[in-house]
Amino acid sequence: GSTLGGAAARTGRYFGTAVSASKLSDSVYTGILSREFTMITPENEMKMDATEPNQNQFSYANADRIVDQATSQGARLRGHTLAWYSQQPGWMQSMEGTALRQAMLNHITQVAGHYRGKIYAWDVVNEAFADGGSGARRDSNLQRTGDDWIEAAFRAARAADPGAKLCYNDYNTDDWNQAKTQAVYRMVQDFKSRGVPIDCVGFQSHFNSNSPVPSNYRTTLQNFADLGVDVQITELDIEGSGTTQADNFRTVTQACLAVPRCTGMTVWGIRDTDSWRASATPLLFDGNGQKKAAYTAVLDAL
Ligand code: XIL
Repeated sequence: GSTLGGAAARTGRYFGTAVSASKLSDSVYTGILSREFTMITPENEMKMDATEPNQNQFSYANADRIVDQATSQGARLRGHTLAWYSQQPGWMQSMEGTALRQAMLNHITQVAGHYRGKIYAWDVVNEAFADGGSGARRDSNLQRTGDDWIEAAFRAARAADPGAKLCYNDYNTDDWNQAKTQAVYRMVQDFKSRGVPIDCVGFQSHFNSNSPVPSNYRTTLQNFADLGVDVQITELDIEGSGTTQADNFRTVTQACLAVPRCTGMTVWGIRDTDSWRASATPLLFDGNGQKKAAYTAVLDAL
C-alpha cells in the first residue's frame, strides 16, 4: 500500500496515531489522519481527569468526538488509559485506601462500560513500575492501596468490556536487560499463570539520545509475546532528523514486523508540531504536513 495503514494491513497489522480532539477542525491534520492511519489513540481525552472530572460525574464529549472521527474513517480505537498515577482528577489525587480502590474500580467499570464494544484495546494500567535498577512498583496513591491494584483493575475492565483486549502499557521497558523490563515481564508471567485477564503489553517507545532504540528491542518484543500476549508499540516517537532518525524508525518497524504477535504500531502524534515534545521533531510529518525521511523509511519497512 502507499499509505502507512495500507502497508501495515498487508501483514494483518494496523498503523495508528495519537489524536487530539482540539485539532479535528484542522483540515491538514484530518486529511493526513484519515489517509494514513487505521488506529487512533486519544492523546488525553480518555484519561481519568478528562472522563471523571468530578467524582461520579462522567464527561465524554471530547473523547466521543475522537470516537466519531474513528468511525467516520473506519479506524479502530485504543483506549488510553483507565488507571494511572498521572493526570488524575483533583478529587482522586487526595484519596487513599479503600475509598480510592473503590473509586478506581468504579471509574474503570463506568468508562470501559460506556465504550463497551467500541475499543480494540484498552491501556488498562499505565506506568505502574519505577525507573532505575530496583524493579519495584512505582510509588503512587494507587500502589498504596495494595499490590493487587493492577490485577483488580484488569478484572474490572474485563467485566465491563469483555470484547476489548486488555493491555499493560509502560515506557523504558524496551531494553531487555533493564530491571524495569524484567519486572513487567514477571508480572505478565504471573498474571498468565494465575488467570488474571491480560491480553497485551504496550511499549510506549519514546526514544531520544538518553533513551535510544536498544539493540535487543526485537528480543524484548518476542520474549513478551512468548508469554502468550500480543505486543504493540503504542506511543512511538524518536528525537532527531534526517537519515539517522529514519534509520531508527526503520529499526523499530522491522522489529515489530519480525514478531508475529506484534499486531501494530502507533506514533504519538501526526506532525512534529503536534508532538508533546515538539522541539525533538520526533514524528513522521513535518510542521507543514509533508512526509519526512522517517516516513519513507517506515513505509518501506512495512
Ligand atoms: C502526554 C500527552 O502527549 C500530553 O499532551 C500531556 O500533556 C501529557 O501526556 N506517556 C503516556 C501518555 O502514556 O499519556 C503521555 O501523553 C506521554 C507519556
